[in-house]
Amino acid sequence: MEALQAFSLAGKVALVTGAASGIGLECARVLGAAGARVMMGDVDHSGCAAAAAALRAAGLDVQARVQDVTAEGDWQASIEATLAAFGGLDVLVNNAGIYQGGTLESNTLEEVRRVHRVNVDSVFLGMKFAAQAMKPGGAAGRGGSIVNLSSVAGLIGVPGHTAYGSTKGAVRLYSRHAAVEFGALGYGIRVNSVHPGLIQTAMGEKVFEDFVALGLAPTPDEAKTVVLGMTAVGRLGTARDVANMVLFLASDASGYATGAEFVVDGGMSAR
Ligand SMILES: NC(=O)c1ccc[n+]([C@@H]2O[C@H](COP(=O)([O-])OP(=O)(O)OC[C@H]3O[C@@H](n4cnc5c(N)ncnc54)[C@H](O)[C@@H]3O)[C@@H](O)[C@H]2O)c1
Repeated sequence: MEALQAFSLAGKVALVTGAASGIGLECARVLGAAGARVMMGDVDHSGCAAAAAALRAAGLDVQARVQDVTAEGDWQASIEATLAAFGGLDVLVNNAGIYQGGTLESNTLEEVRRVHRVNVDSVFLGMKFAAQAMKPGGAAGRGGSIVNLSSVAGLIGVPGHTAYGSTKGAVRLYSRHAAVEFGALGYGIRVNSVHPGLIQTAMGEKVFEDFVALGLAPTPDEAKTVVLGMTAVGRLGTARDVANMVLFLASDASGYATGAEFVVDGGMSAR
């Protein structure tokens, strides 16, 4: 019987953006533990360097570099650095993102443009430059898997989420279109989106505070209790919950999945 090594990333190289903290850091840890060599990029370079040093001390093969995902030049430099350091590129996790709260009426045009720059332009640039490297004849040339971090707010309406949710809806369809286009071009590159619910990270805490500002709960703790009640599994989500889904999508075990949405929200959006 053939050996079952469903989630091994041995021999694979991954680039994870926004890897200094939260979900991105956990993705670097989980992909690295599965055998991938991981380039960790973040605009917070000192935080990313410290996080990478801690993962190296735990025996993982990771490096950190400064990368602003809105900067085209940073993308080209990061992919070149990944190829030079690890000799390939098989997995891109477009994780870096920011949250913008407020209502449709209170948001300024600059706030909306900023969150679209960070959350959507980044996904365009990442997929563009990763595909150039991953496609047949590219500098890496082995095909690969691109995982884009969307949100349940990219699938359903949430109060106070028009600016942020519109970016995550764009990430969802960017992923589908890229998956179909790469397939038509014979690139061997899969693209999927991941849709977390409320996850306990710095960003998650900000969302709980915004629920209070909107009058949806009296305190952030009460907001957590409300969200908890909306889940079917009876607990809040962790960065590990999301990273485990990213691991599946990065691995060959998900080889027949592309252009699809993977919800990790404890059942919150199922009702
Ligand atoms: N936490 C949640 O509840 C939740 C839910 C759904 C989706 N998400 C998505 O998951 C992803 C990660 O979220 P998180 O909760 O870990 O957020 P976080 O705020 O905890 O961490 C985000 C990381 O991205 C980095 N970053 C921000 N702007 C950047 C830029 N321009 N270039 C490079 N790096 C940048 C930050 O320095 C930080 O390290 C985001 O795309 C977010 O929208 C989060």
